[in-house]
Amino acid sequence: MTTLTASIPVERIAKSRISEVDFNNLEFGKYISDHMLVVDFLNGKWQEPKIVPFGDIPMSPAMLSLHYGQSVFEGMKAFKNKDGNICIFRPQKHSERLNKSLARMCMSEIPEELFIQSLHAIVETDQNWIPTSEGSSLYLRPVVFAYEPRLGVKIADHFKFFILTSPAGAYFSKPTRLKVEETFVRAAEGGTGFAKCAGNYGGAFYPTQVARQEGFDQVLWTDAKEHKYIDEAGVMNVMFVIDGKLITPRLTTALLDGVTRDSILKLAPQLGITVEERKVSVEEIENAFKKGTITEAFGSGTAAVVSPIATINIHGIDYNLPAAGPDSFQVRVKEKLNNMRLGFEADTFGWNYVIPVNGQ
Ligand code: COI
Repeated sequence: MTTLTASIPVERIAKSRISEVDFNNLEFGKYISDHMLVVDFLNGKWQEPKIVPFGDIPMSPAMLSLHYGQSVFEGMKAFKNKDGNICIFRPQKHSERLNKSLARMCMSEIPEELFIQSLHAIVETDQNWIPTSEGSSLYLRPVVFAYEPRLGVKIADHFKFFILTSPAGAYFSKPTRLKVEETFVRAAEGGTGFAKCAGNYGGAFYPTQVARQEGFDQVLWTDAKEHKYIDEAGVMNVMFVIDGKLITPRLTTALLDGVTRDSILKLAPQLGITVEERKVSVEEIENAFKKGTITEAFGSGTAAVVSPIATINIHGIDYNLPAAGPDSFQVRVKEKLNNMRLGFEADTFGWNYVIPVNGQ
């Protein structure tokens, strides 16, 4: 993939905070790197990006995003590949998704070139923060929100686009326990479920808290109309192996079009498995457990990567899955994805945006 030259001014931090990071224990989201990238959308256009030390920003309590929720984000990852170069995974696909989210929320879209140039510059600036231990990465968090102060219900004219970065390890420390949700709803078709907007996450807190009190890690959302079909798990899409086939809910306007989901579906044929993207009913999953035809279930997401599911609770009954062995699809596809990002296997889809590091 062509690498743009990033020429964005950088105001460097006086003293790096990197020595405060425990790289052996990278709890997801705990540490934020030294710098952040910032761009304003003002007077009808995106202004020049700049990189400044990470820190607080001035804001008005009347800022529109606080009141009416115009706030969307992305989750992405950067790695150090086997040659010591930096690799950002699928920035074009993330750019497309961000722009779909922005359009749905009546926010100004970000040209792909500005988005990728910004990612390039911030990752290059804080490249020392990219962890290299197994399963770790630099998590990238682009976020766009309405900055204009106004109490009237209106579409903002002033937005801010930031990119924060965070050295991160695994999102889940063990296989998850999910509860099929039949009371609460994450998103209805025609709503904002496909957009990565802040409100989707805030709205999921209460049902997730209830599920946690009942001993589950996450909620497995079902469709808003009938609670009959599986949607996704909020921080990850879900996939099942039933009768030897990889089965996942088809995308609707209520589901996030996961980049890891898409990558897995594209890699699956190379791993010799048939893919079915279609409606998946709760009843089908329940029957597959009863008949013993379901052999795997896992979540996929940028943060979650490929996360094994240990238990799915359906109508109050726990159905358990065996631990994923080395021959399981989920272990093989996770390894393949990892190998492609780190340069141990050919990047056949051109997913890696590589930034050469001096001398490499
Ligand atoms: C991601 O996978 O990047 C997400 O956005 C999920 C969560 C950490 C918010």
